[in-house]
Amino acid sequence: MNELLNVVVLKRVLQGDDVVVIDLARADRGNLPTFEAGAHIDVHLPSSLIRQYSLCGDPADAGIYRLGVLKDPQSRGGSASVHQELHEGVQVNISLPRNHFPLDLSAERSILIGGGIGITPMLAMAYALEAKGKAFEMHYCARSRSRSAFLEELERSKFSHVVHLHFDDEPESKMDLKRVLSGGQETAHIYTCGPKGFMEWAISNALELGYPDAHIHREYFQADVDTDGVSFEVVAARSGKKVTVTAGQTIHQALAEVGIAIEISCEQGVCGTCLCDVLEGEPDHRDVYLTADEKADNDTILVCCSRSKSSRLVLDI
Ligand code: FES
Repeated sequence: MNELLNVVVLKRVLQGDDVVVIDLARADRGNLPTFEAGAHIDVHLPSSLIRQYSLCGDPADAGIYRLGVLKDPQSRGGSASVHQELHEGVQVNISLPRNHFPLDLSAERSILIGGGIGITPMLAMAYALEAKGKAFEMHYCARSRSRSAFLEELERSKFSHVVHLHFDDEPESKMDLKRVLSGGQETAHIYTCGPKGFMEWAISNALELGYPDAHIHREYFQADVDTDGVSFEVVAARSGKKVTVTAGQTIHQALAEVGIAIEISCEQGVCGTCLCDVLEGEPDHRDVYLTADEKADNDTILVCCSRSKSSRLVLDI
């Protein structure tokens, strides 16, 4: 069982139309475990859902974990629960910070590109890069000022001179992505987080301009789980139990029906919690967590969302 911390909502502020910024602290106000820029925590919500949120505060501030959570009309319950239930004084359990989106501090220059609520990990990165004296710029793209958060914080930050705001309803602020990405492709690193289409736009432009794939760092916070496909058999090697995964069902759900519980969190192929080793068969990877190389290796699978290209998949569980 992963270690959990009990924290209290110290402060909660609605910013813009639909983003709530929440400061979590230990009840005794002691220091929290340190975190690196790009890290996230699992929040065990009062509704019993577990959701991942990036830490968006200054990593040098040991007393607070800050989250920014968008009220998402497409929410499967997570963001609604945060907005409705995480009031000041409420206690919640959280995981220790984990980082799947670390900074590469060897880069000569870093370009942070956040779309909408995808700005959250970029904030922690900006604090860390500023503290290390590294060259960077931050681009925050949002629909409008009223649907943005953190604007005052960015304005009064030490790095305000490298922050560029781009609003869809202010055409003069439109981002010229090709110009932003041009120059120094060999030594610059790009970090992007936001809606899938936004990230694909940033990533495809960077690849077109000659950025090595390894210099393009990405964090997806939302993924559509597609369970379409034909049925296939999954074998749990340690017990020898076999299960048929039907169309519309996930491997995780099918395994649960025969009493095999796999730890699960985001249920969207984003967090990596449900990663299992593959002993035989060819996975049909549908997650956004594994890299292209890891997917090509075909020796691991995320069972909350991925399926099988082969009629049989043997897992080391
Ligand atoms: S539970 Fe998050 S990737 Fe499967």
